[in-house]
Amino acid sequence: MKDILLTILRNKNTNTTDFRKVADDLALLLANETAHCLKKQKISVQTPLAKTAGYKIKNNIALVPILRAGLALLPAFLKTFPESSVGFIGLKRDEKTYEAKLYYKNIPKISTRDNVIILDPMLATGGSLVEAIKILMTAGAKEENIIYIGVVSAPEGLANLKKHFPKIQTIIAAHDQKLNKNKYILPGLGDFGDRYFKT
Ligand code: PRP
Ligand code: URA
Repeated sequence: MKDILLTILRNKNTNTTDFRKVADDLALLLANETAHCLKKQKISVQTPLAKTAGYKIKNNIALVPILRAGLALLPAFLKTFPESSVGFIGLKRDEKTYEAKLYYKNIPKISTRDNVIILDPMLATGGSLVEAIKILMTAGAKEENIIYIGVVSAPEGLANLKKHFPKIQTIIAAHDQKLNKNKYILPGLGDFGDRYFKT
């Protein structure tokens, strides 16, 4: 299913309505996969007939979309993890230097045990993600408890991430081939934020 949805997102003829719907469907798949990866705690539950064993997610969750494009993944993750706190990090790549510039930050209280889930569909040079992780670790997140959720990554971005933060877990729908000279992912899907927000 993931590959079918991704194909629609990659297609340059996909209109905004379909792009948004399919991005949301794919985000739900990614949220489900994230749920598989989180530590569970055994609990007991009383059915109408008997007591039985069940599970809940063990630690608190903080969802952190990187503005803007990360906002596209947020509704599906809130649906899957409705008790999460939500933090925001606004980063914009400079069009000439490709460096990520911070323009907004609002981070909830984070303890070392919390699961911190960073949402950003595109991992290109990795500059934005590395910056976001530094901010979250300064706020109290533990590297091992951070999960990055993405739609498309470039090998350059993954290498940058692993060089700085080797213990970060990643859940990414597609690992693409390379960056072009403008640091866009090939084959990629273009500019996710512009396509999702129709700008
Ligand atoms: C895009 C994307 C990532 C970043 C990836 O955001 O959503 O945040 O670029 O590139 P990098 O790995 O080279 O840092 P952009 O800065 O274009 O802002 P936007 O989300 O507002 O469109
Ligand atoms: N940001 C995007 O939206 N797409 C890319 O290919 C690279 C950065």
